[in-house]
Amino acid sequence: MTTLPPSPPEDRFPAGRAAFPHRDLTGIGQLERHEVLYILDQAQRWVELNRQRSKHAELLSGLTIINAFFENSTRTLLSFEIAGKRLGADVVNMVAATSSLKKGETLIDTAITLNAMRADAIVIRHGSSGATQLIADKVDCPVLNAGDGSHEHPTQALLDALALRHALAERGEASEDFTGRTITICGDILHGRVARSSLLCLQALGATVRLCAPPALMPAGIEAMGAQVFDDFDAALEGSDVVMMLRLQSERMAGQFIPSAREYRHRYGLTAKRLKRAASDLLVMHPGPMNRGVEIDSEVADLAGRSLVTRQVEMGVAIRMACLDILTRAARGVEGWETQA
Ligand code: NCD
Repeated sequence: MTTLPPSPPEDRFPAGRAAFPHRDLTGIGQLERHEVLYILDQAQRWVELNRQRSKHAELLSGLTIINAFFENSTRTLLSFEIAGKRLGADVVNMVAATSSLKKGETLIDTAITLNAMRADAIVIRHGSSGATQLIADKVDCPVLNAGDGSHEHPTQALLDALALRHALAERGEASEDFTGRTITICGDILHGRVARSSLLCLQALGATVRLCAPPALMPAGIEAMGAQVFDDFDAALEGSDVVMMLRLQSERMAGQFIPSAREYRHRYGLTAKRLKRAASDLLVMHPGPMNRGVEIDSEVADLAGRSLVTRQVEMGVAIRMACLDILTRAARGVEGWETQA
């Protein structure tokens, strides 16, 4: 028998606001700080369940979740699939290569089709920024963004925050947010949706965020979002508590953005040599997939105690379980959750 860890107290919401007020999760940009904290707290329950031998909860039993992925994914798709199944839902994966999209069906037609099948939640990954919102506007159930173009990837940012919370707690530095911490995100900031979602999430949790990239891979005017901008990685690392490495998103690049992979590694790679020069307790993160030997050396990626890469994957399932649970509460008739819209 599975013992379900207790639900944390529902004390995150300001007086008079009983429920998480959103029907969809399209981006971190839509969330307030207490809503981010609420999701992280809720996910802790699922971390504990996922560490038991029997990992089944029947919370979403009878519901159908469609994972509609119009862009390649390994860990995010698998993570959402496992999350839905552990909560007892029927999970169906639709991947672009086998869908009518190849026959020229529009995104809106696909949305209408998924809706007609009476899905109870739809998880979308798509190559175009804004695709999730477009689908959300056309369907009657909650829609979760699993990455839309270079716009947002909210569950990735949430799982990163949870992984970091755990790592800090294990060092005896437990705190609910990241006030006083400096976190550097280094890599292809221009094309990376993780950079945008993480920036918003980490800032909401009180961190100082540094963004580091070659000038060609840094969006113009990004300082307006409150980030400190660097093009010198060593300077960015100085005083950082955490570094998040991002992959070069070559599939989104039209033309040549960097002189060569070798040159890129030299200036922006988290090499073993560079890590030695950084603070001895610097934590290393990467959302995957990693290009080992380009933005991160294998020795660094696999460094026990410092690299959180596998921890991030673990937390991903728990975060997605929390999001699926929270967003389906209105439809499941959970008391106090009628107001999600
Ligand atoms: C990220 C993505 O797809 O945006 N990966 C992921 O979800 N684990 C980052 C990336 O592709 O580089």
